[in-house]
Amino acid sequence: MALSEAEREAIREEAAHYRDKSAASIEALKIVQQRHGWVSDEHIKDIAEVLGMSPDQLDGVATFYNLIYRRPVGKKVIHYCNSVSCWILGAEELREQMEKRLRIKLGETTQDGEYTLLPIVCLGACHRAPVMMVGDETYFEIDPARLDAIFPVKT
Ligand code: FES
Repeated sequence: MALSEAEREAIREEAAHYRDKSAASIEALKIVQQRHGWVSDEHIKDIAEVLGMSPDQLDGVATFYNLIYRRPVGKKVIHYCNSVSCWILGAEELREQMEKRLRIKLGETTQDGEYTLLPIVCLGACHRAPVMMVGDETYFEIDPARLDAIFPVKT
């Protein structure tokens, strides 16, 4: 789906804050993601045009920034920390528990479209590992019982 005129205008307004319009790349991607839930190839092409960039340049930014989704995701994205402090404190076993509970693997979305499970590098809270984000909420010191409470089995 192409960008609406309102979306183009919102991106132009953001870009007006910078001498180099490409400096508004991440904000522009966020504007589109907020409305559509993810950023398609067509969106990349349209945003790049507004910002005076090539689609490849903008795609490079979108791919590097791991809170921009280039494929459809569930209503909530689970960003599961996949770095060393969390591993040491049992993140691998907890991830397996969560995968069983949600019946998905890393990178997948639940059948009801509720959750997408994605790995993320250190969330910067190693002293409270294991850590994950579910939507906007961050969970620290996760253990098996907490995981079950966060994702109750649906009846
Ligand atoms: S390694 Fe998981 S929060 Fe730092």
